[in-house]
Amino acid sequence: MVQSMPDASPAKWHRAHTTWFFEQFLLRPHLRGYRVFEERFAYLFNSYYVAAGPRHARPKRGLLTRPDCDDVVAYRAHVDRAVESLLAEAGDCELPAIVRILEIGLHHEQQHQELLLTDILHAFAGNPIAPVYDAAWELPRAASYANDFVDVPSGIHTVGFVGEGYRFDNEGPAHRVFLQPVRIARALVSNAEWLEFMADSGYATPSLWLSDGWALLESEGWSAPGYWRKLDGDWFSMTLAGLKPVDLRAPVAHVSYYEADAFARWAGKHLPSEEEWEVAARANLLDDAFGLVWQWTRSAYLPYPGYRTQAGALGEYNGKFMVNQMVLRGSSHATPADHARASYRNFFYPPARWQFSGLRLVDYPEVIAHA
Ligand SMILES: [Fe+2]
Repeated sequence: MVQSMPDASPAKWHRAHTTWFFEQFLLRPHLRGYRVFEERFAYLFNSYYVAAGPRHARPKRGLLTRPDCDDVVAYRAHVDRAVESLLAEAGDCELPAIVRILEIGLHHEQQHQELLLTDILHAFAGNPIAPVYDAAWELPRAASYANDFVDVPSGIHTVGFVGEGYRFDNEGPAHRVFLQPVRIARALVSNAEWLEFMADSGYATPSLWLSDGWALLESEGWSAPGYWRKLDGDWFSMTLAGLKPVDLRAPVAHVSYYEADAFARWAGKHLPSEEEWEVAARANLLDDAFGLVWQWTRSAYLPYPGYRTQAGALGEYNGKFMVNQMVLRGSSHATPADHARASYRNFFYPPARWQFSGLRLVDYPEVIAHA
C-alpha cells in the first residue's frame, strides 16, 4: 500500500482500480441484476473519471489501509465471475458493445501492469537499503549499438492507426503528414553516451537547457538520470533487481523530457517528432523501437486532426489530457509485448522520470531553403 509520491500509486490500489474499471464501465451498465461488491469502493478506486462520480484524492491513495489485500482479491474474484456470466448470457446484439468495453478494460489493465512495476521501483529506489523486486530481472540487451543515422523517406506519409486490432482513440484519426528530409538514429542513446554528456558538464551548462528544465534541475539537484547513485566513485542505478552498476551498453532510462532535450542540444542533434518516429518505425529503420525504453519525442501531446472524444465517462480516458504533456513512442521492457505498436502514443509531463523513458536522436541534413 506504499505510495512514494503523488504520481505513483500503491500496488493494491492498481489492482483494485483495474477491477473497478470493469465493474463501473462493463458490469453496472450491462449485467442485469449485477450486485456491486462494495458501494464505497467506487469512491476509493475511481482514478480521474469525473462523470463516474466523486473520488479519493490521488496523493492520498497510500492512506488506504483498508480494504486490505484479501478484500481486493475477493473484489477481483467477484468481478471476474460476473464478467464471465455477462459473456455467457449476452445476446448477439449486445455482444459487440460488451466486447468493446471489455477490450478497453484489458488494455487499461495492461497499462497498469507497467505502472505497477514503475511505481514499485520508485518506492524501492527511495529506500536506502535498495530492495530487490526480482533478482532475476535484467534489461533485455539492445539489439544494436549502431551509431549511424539513416534517412527517413521524406514527403507525404500516413500516420496514426490503420487496420485491424485494438487501438486507443488517441491513435486516430489516421492522417497525412509531410516530412522534411530527416535522418534518425538507428540505436537508442546509451548510458555510455549519457556519461559523456555528464562528463562534459551537461548538468551544469544552463545554455543546454529549457528554462523550465533548468529551474527543475536546480530545485531537484539533478546531476544524473533518475535512480543513479555514485558509490566509491562508480555509478550504480536502482533497478527492479536492486542496485546494479550502470551498464554502459544499455540504453539510458529514467530521464525526463528536459534531460532528453538538453542531451539532444549538447549532441548537436534533435529529438524526433512523433510523426518522424512513426514513419521510421513503420519503415523498419529503428533498432529497439520496442521493448527497452519509451522514447521521448519533441511532439506535444495534442489531438490528431479531426479527433473527437467519445461521449460518456470513457471519453475522459485520453482526450482530456491533451495539454502540457509530451509524447513518448515505442514501448519499454515493462510494457506487455502485445500492447506495443507503431501508432501507440504514450504521454507524460516533461519533468517525469520514474517511467522507463529514454530517447533516440534525429538530425536534419540541411535546412530547406524556403521559397
Ligand atoms: Fe487507470
